[in-house]
Amino acid sequence: MSENSDRPFTRVSAVVIMAAGAGTRMKSATAKVLHRLGGRSMISYAVEAASALEPEHLVVVVGHQRDQVEAHLAEVAPQVRLAVQEQPLGTGDAVRAGMSLLSGVAGEVVVTSGDVPLLRGDTLIDLVSAHREDGNAVTVLTAMVPDPSGYGRIVRDGDEVARIVEHRDASDDELDIAEINSGIYVFDAATLAEGIAGLRTSNDQGELYLTDVVAHARQAGRRVGARVLADYLQTEGVNDRAQLAERNAELNRRILHRWMTDGVTIVDPATTWIHDSVDLAEDVTLLPNTSLEGATSVGRGATIGPDTTLVDVEVGEGAQVIRSHASLAVIAAGATVGPFSFLRPGTELGERSKVGAFVETKKAVIGAGAKVPHLTYCGDAVIGEGANIGAGTIFANYDGVGKYTSTVGAHSFVGSDSVLVAPVHIADGAYVAAGSTITDDVGPGELGVSRGRQRNIAGWVARKRAGTASAAAAEAAGRSSDEPGASA
Ligand code: UD1
Ligand code: CA
Repeated sequence: MSENSDRPFTRVSAVVIMAAGAGTRMKSATAKVLHRLGGRSMISYAVEAASALEPEHLVVVVGHQRDQVEAHLAEVAPQVRLAVQEQPLGTGDAVRAGMSLLSGVAGEVVVTSGDVPLLRGDTLIDLVSAHREDGNAVTVLTAMVPDPSGYGRIVRDGDEVARIVEHRDASDDELDIAEINSGIYVFDAATLAEGIAGLRTSNDQGELYLTDVVAHARQAGRRVGARVLADYLQTEGVNDRAQLAERNAELNRRILHRWMTDGVTIVDPATTWIHDSVDLAEDVTLLPNTSLEGATSVGRGATIGPDTTLVDVEVGEGAQVIRSHASLAVIAAGATVGPFSFLRPGTELGERSKVGAFVETKKAVIGAGAKVPHLTYCGDAVIGEGANIGAGTIFANYDGVGKYTSTVGAHSFVGSDSVLVAPVHIADGAYVAAGSTITDDVGPGELGVSRGRQRNIAGWVARKRAGTASAAAAEAAGRSSDEPGASA
């Protein structure tokens, strides 16, 4: 993507990510930067983009709901250092808090926000490269946007930036400026430190504005430049849940576009959702209403959907998953799943195996070519290759206290509507008669049968249901009421 990404890049001194704001417009008990899109928190994208600059110091400024943010970063990005901004006094004060961890730092300090999730690392590399080429003290990432309302406007002075004026402080003429401040900057460390020391709260919000460092730098005779990012969607932030949904949709569009470029057929991009972390092979087909999440991977030629959600699922080549929900499962090459299957954690389907309609599996290892085609609960089960599990079979794995595993051997056959009361073992090449409740093991080649023997009571309908349509039908069929031996 980046024109500079092939050249060697010299790391920056520091990146400061601002994430201490109150996020009031989210109206949430969850810190704004922890809201998720594409399966990950907003702040994790900011950290990833910043990491492309290989900063010596990566600082996240936390404040509002900081316990949550700190706990999350400790998990997903333990390399970051945390600076605390006690009160949300403005973006200038946030960077002051960040700089307090960086005393004596020289060189380039990049400032970004935790709520701009589409920003890419190569955009930051281009920004820093422009900063170096132009010999700037400050370089602002800007964009021309269709609707600049709410953003700070870039007041130009030739190819330099004279100052940045916030929307609410802008004159009518300034409001007409379409070039906006993305809130992403490269600063010379000394210029930044001096500028922050000189900030005043003389603005509509009574805050310390980082943007005022620009005018300060110009007054000190330093060069302030800008780089206009054509792909302005990357600079869009998240202030409320409507914007979160919009950024999420745009992120998804970009992920889908990448996969289509790499040879994946996506029949309905509007209803297909793919997390950033998913991996797809060429010639995968995704049908409408499909959601692929977490560590899901799909092999060459497989078809997923419609109406399917896979979370942390590995799908092999040529497999088919139709109208189903699966998590933490492995589906081997050529297997077929669904419609209406529910694969729960610990499910492993062998090659060319089949799990069909209204089948639920959990901790179930199903051998190559084995079939569980209809209406089955298959929990804590090991099923050998080529076995057939009849419609309505239940693996009764729970006795109210513990859970136990049952096994069904290779090429064995379990008749429909059987209950296998765990732990029970059906050997290789064994049969279970339909309708059996199996509590004892069945040996190789044996038929296990466990059910009441059938008897037919002749003349019962004529005696007990005389005068009904059933009695008439029986009569017409020639099964007269007291003809002994009419039926065995
Ligand atoms: C800011 C810019 C504006 C720019 C816009 C781009 C200023 C004064 N304005 O406005 O020019 O167009 O971003 O999105 O900088 N934060 C703190 N502590 C604070 C205040 C904010 O950490 O005291 C953090 C927020 O969590 C957020 C970021 O700084 O991550 C930006 O703050 P926000 O209040 O959203 O700034 P904007 O009004 O959008
Ligand atoms: Ca903002």
